[in-house]
Amino acid sequence: MNNIKLEVANGIALVTIDRPKAPNALNSETLTELKNCFAELEGRKDVRVVLLTGSREKAFVAGADISEMVNTEPAAGRAMALLADEAFSRLEKMPQVTIAAVNGYALGGGCELAMACDIRVAAESAVLGQPECGLEILPGFGGTQRLARLVGKGRAKELSFTCDRIDAQEAHRIGLVNKVVAKDALLAECRSMAERILSKGSYAISLAKASIESGMDTDLASGLELEAINFGLSFATHDKKEGMTAFLEKRPAQLTDF
Ligand code: CAA
Repeated sequence: MNNIKLEVANGIALVTIDRPKAPNALNSETLTELKNCFAELEGRKDVRVVLLTGSREKAFVAGADISEMVNTEPAAGRAMALLADEAFSRLEKMPQVTIAAVNGYALGGGCELAMACDIRVAAESAVLGQPECGLEILPGFGGTQRLARLVGKGRAKELSFTCDRIDAQEAHRIGLVNKVVAKDALLAECRSMAERILSKGSYAISLAKASIESGMDTDLASGLELEAINFGLSFATHDKKEGMTAFLEKRPAQLTDF
């Protein structure tokens, strides 16, 4: 992989986008590498939380690669969006928990990549936005869909139409990021959150994630039905029996269904 780095230790995978030339901008090669990396990670039993970040302080991801798109025709533009959709949807649906550590600029495709993660933690120096309309294109890596689902239709339209860049505090205020931390504490904070997640039952978490993801895209009655099915499935594990028995016996649970 030329543009991303993968390190796995103690149940946590750290995926770092590393394209110093154009601050971690997503060209087709990087999107393909991300897609392949997510496909590998979703099958790994030794990975339960995926952290995604950008190399160096400047950028998480500065967007899609403008130098690749400048001479691109409509069919190739659509193909690029579909490639990004494939990679980002894989990330969104993987059974593991995904956390974006937003270390700097997360613009256009960068903001869209962060939005495909389950949780976003931003450094206080991070800057987010959807500047695509200023380039006479639209947010095309999921931005018109995921931003409205996260922050509501009105704010999604305002951010997309004005192309305003917002700082981490404003992103937190509108619900675009979950938490803002000092930049030097960003990865430590994400790892600490990952460790709290690692101490819980992984099967239950993956079922909760699938229920939320699918439920958001359907009506309430269907979502509740899906939740009931997944609730039933969660009763099938050793960890459910152990977790509840440990509570009743007032002792720590010994979870093993990883
Ligand atoms: N694609 C390609 N190259 C990029 C890039 C991008 N998205 N962002 C920055 N670069 C390049 C710059 O052209 C520059 O190249 P040179 O050194 O060869 O001149 C280099 O990276 C450094 O950039 P700057 O000199 O601009 O650095 P800065 O610190 O002054 O600003 C920045 C950083 C705010 C990220 C600024 O570069 C910027 O605004 N980048 C573009 C952001 C953007 O518009 N993103 C959306 C892209 S479209 C998209 O994402 C479509 C979609 O829906 C997915």
